[in-house]
Amino acid sequence: MPTTPSSAPAYVVVENLVAGYGDQTVLNGVSVQARRGEITVILGGSGCGKTTLLRHVVGLLRPRSGRVLIDGRDVHRAGEAEREAILRNVGMSFQGGALFNSMSVEENVMLPILEHTRAPVETARMLARMKLSLVGLEHAARLLPAELSGGMKKRAAVARALALDPTLLLFDELSAGLDPVTARELDELVLRLKAQFDMAILIVTHELGSIQMIADRAIMLHDGRVLAAGPLAEVQARQLPQVQAFFDRRPRPAGLRHGLLERLTDGA
Ligand SMILES: Nc1ncnc2c1ncn2[C@@H]1O[C@H](COP(=O)(O)OP(=O)(O)OP(=O)(O)O)[C@@H](O)[C@H]1O
Ligand SMILES: [Mg+2]
Repeated sequence: MPTTPSSAPAYVVVENLVAGYGDQTVLNGVSVQARRGEITVILGGSGCGKTTLLRHVVGLLRPRSGRVLIDGRDVHRAGEAEREAILRNVGMSFQGGALFNSMSVEENVMLPILEHTRAPVETARMLARMKLSLVGLEHAARLLPAELSGGMKKRAAVARALALDPTLLLFDELSAGLDPVTARELDELVLRLKAQFDMAILIVTHELGSIQMIADRAIMLHDGRVLAAGPLAEVQARQLPQVQAFFDRRPRPAGLRHGLLERLTDGA
């Protein structure tokens, strides 16, 4: 259920984004909006450009054309200092988590604080501890990423994304590959963060259960374009074959996700 009126100004505005790699065009005129206080999910088949879209939102890749505005400021046309200021308010957890394996969980969370503020080490440590307690990982502060379960790694990545108190939070496949209980706990965490902080939250996910539980709005990408966008219920009700195929998938037993069952049912 949307918790804020749709008339609220969009915090993130992607306009007519054309993007790709080498000769390949991946996004061909994509426009997307995300508002504070809402969770917007980005949907679409593997390889359709969801991660590519997020990389452009955070300024890691330059668009061929189009623009990305965060809080009204153009990420790609800003000078270095302004860009740094814009991105200071953005927290992101990449597909796969990407924690630094040689550092403790706490040090991973301290890193952006030490990099982007003048906080002394002990202050950064205290702030990192606060973020870890927000995600239920205060007891794991001194562990190395290799000593964490899959769900704990995701929580640590969330804590790191929260390190600088962002107003825009981006997650790429946060709950993919987790068992249903752990995935649900992460969804609950995301909902709690939405309730506690006034952030725009943009999440790439394939998980139907997660989409139903957390999404206020959905954007479905297909063939380099936005196929459907709007409140989740409206997108789900769209009578488009690709949309229906996406939402009609039967939930699959964990563990068989990447197995024979998937290939058989997807090929059917
Ligand atoms: N660094 C890169 N260099 C060249 N091509 C890339 C690169 N990253 C992605 N691509 C290509 O761009 C297309 C979109 O990839 P992207 O990772 O954005 O898809 P996705 O929607 O995130 O897929 P998935 O659901 O599997 O994560 C794919 O065809 C992919 O092969
Ligand atoms: Mg991806």
